Amino acid sequence: MQLAVIGTGYVGLVAGAGFAEFGNDIACVDVSEAKIEMLKRGQVPIYEPGLEELIAKNVRDGRLQFSTDVGSAIRGAEVVFIAVGTPSAEDGSADLSAVYAVAETIGKTLEGYKVVATKSTVPVGTADRIRAIISSQTEHPFGVASNPEFLKEGDAVNDFMKPDRVIIGSDDARAKEVLRHLYNPFVRTSDRIHLMDPRSAELSKYAANCMLATRISFMNDLAVLAEKLGADIELVRKATGADPRIGPKFLFPGPGFGGSCFPKDLSALLYTARERGHELSIVEAAQRINARQKHLLGEKILAHFAGAGSAAPPVEAQAEGGTRGPLAGRTIAIWGLSFKPRTDDIRESPALTLIDDLLAAGATVQAHDPQAMPGVRAIYGGRVMMSDGMYGAVEGADALVLVTEWHEYRRPDFKRLHRIMNTPALFDGRNMWEPDELRGLGFSYQSIGRP
Ligand SMILES: NC(=O)c1ccc[n+]([C@@H]2O[C@H](COP(=O)([O-])OP(=O)(O)OC[C@H]3O[C@@H](n4cnc5c(N)ncnc54)[C@H](O)[C@@H]3O)[C@@H](O)[C@H]2O)c1
Repeated sequence: MQLAVIGTGYVGLVAGAGFAEFGNDIACVDVSEAKIEMLKRGQVPIYEPGLEELIAKNVRDGRLQFSTDVGSAIRGAEVVFIAVGTPSAEDGSADLSAVYAVAETIGKTLEGYKVVATKSTVPVGTADRIRAIISSQTEHPFGVASNPEFLKEGDAVNDFMKPDRVIIGSDDARAKEVLRHLYNPFVRTSDRIHLMDPRSAELSKYAANCMLATRISFMNDLAVLAEKLGADIELVRKATGADPRIGPKFLFPGPGFGGSCFPKDLSALLYTARERGHELSIVEAAQRINARQKHLLGEKILAHFAGAGSAAPPVEAQAEGGTRGPLAGRTIAIWGLSFKPRTDDIRESPALTLIDDLLAAGATVQAHDPQAMPGVRAIYGGRVMMSDGMYGAVEGADALVLVTEWHEYRRPDFKRLHRIMNTPALFDGRNMWEPDELRGLGFSYQSIGRP
């Protein structure tokens, strides 16, 4: 099948390459000339495991092309996928300007029947609006469908190739059939295609993300209480997740959720609910708890250095013109900057909140991440020192904070850390390390929700 995918971000690129892998011919288009130029040169602008190889193979086989020419991509396609960004607007609603701009172009370009399928996460009612925009531009027949994407960054290729569900929401029987046919090879072993109306499809995506975010916030809230009670949230997590009605996934306490989806999708659903006069209290609480949780590591670090027994900051920090603040003269090392492992995506990452808190308190920040350092450098410039090696970032530090649990941080050489740190303080934002072992090695160790 000939397809156009508009928007070559995390979703559009993976979807384009994934569809191509199953024999379809794909035109991937984007307004960003820089991105398309990179892709044409064989470079992939984002880090996603397995994606580079998948793109290279399908480009070589002639099934995957990149261009900035939205019009000709649409003209040649049977199905046009909209995969552009839908970031939060200032009022918390989803900014749909890119989606509507694409719909307008589709309307102007339409010749003969096409399916227009929205992969972007969009509020309920967007399919109706897309239909109206296209109709205002053309007499040609077309079908609109909501086809929300459920891939996870870090495992996106696998998720796309073996989806646990494919949601097709449309009022147009022909569009449903075309999409069902397209997705059949992806779900051969079981019937995972859910056919429904567009509004239910649009809401399903928000329901999934808000449910997952709520589980995380629930555990983060409980972790704070566990600490006050002297209970161990890790034991509680395992015991709770053992109940098959609950299950073990998405119960991990941490520094708060980030990423390009959960925060904005919670805001957008809350906005939609408010518009309809409905108070979505659980989602509101999940959002509020997360905002608090993102400052937790910074607060623990401040409390640690303000606490009795911690050595005074070096004299030069207090010198005239030196940085001021409770952490002046302290060097804090951060491991992990992306919002989760196996991605370079730093959008809404808790590491950014921590960096802001540390800089505001006058600390010197040194950081390492296997993939996300260029993105953080672009925001902070020289205000955060990046180190090519994970141990280099910890050299001379007064504390090390684990924010993102990349594999390489899970079992580091603690003796080496102890040797190279100025003061041996560890803040484990992911409960990755063993408290007894580390205290035995002479570290001061704090984690989330453990005594
Ligand atoms: N990232 C994820 O894990 C994920 C998962 C599921 C769903 N989603 C949803 O998918 C959508 C895209 O997310 P993403 O992470 O891929 O975003 P992204 O920011 O990585 O990519 C969006 C791309 O769209 C391009 N674009 C913007 N306006 C355009 C236009 N008018 N014409 C052509 N291209 C245009 C941008 O240049 C960018 O390359 C969002 O709605 C998001 O909520 C994302």
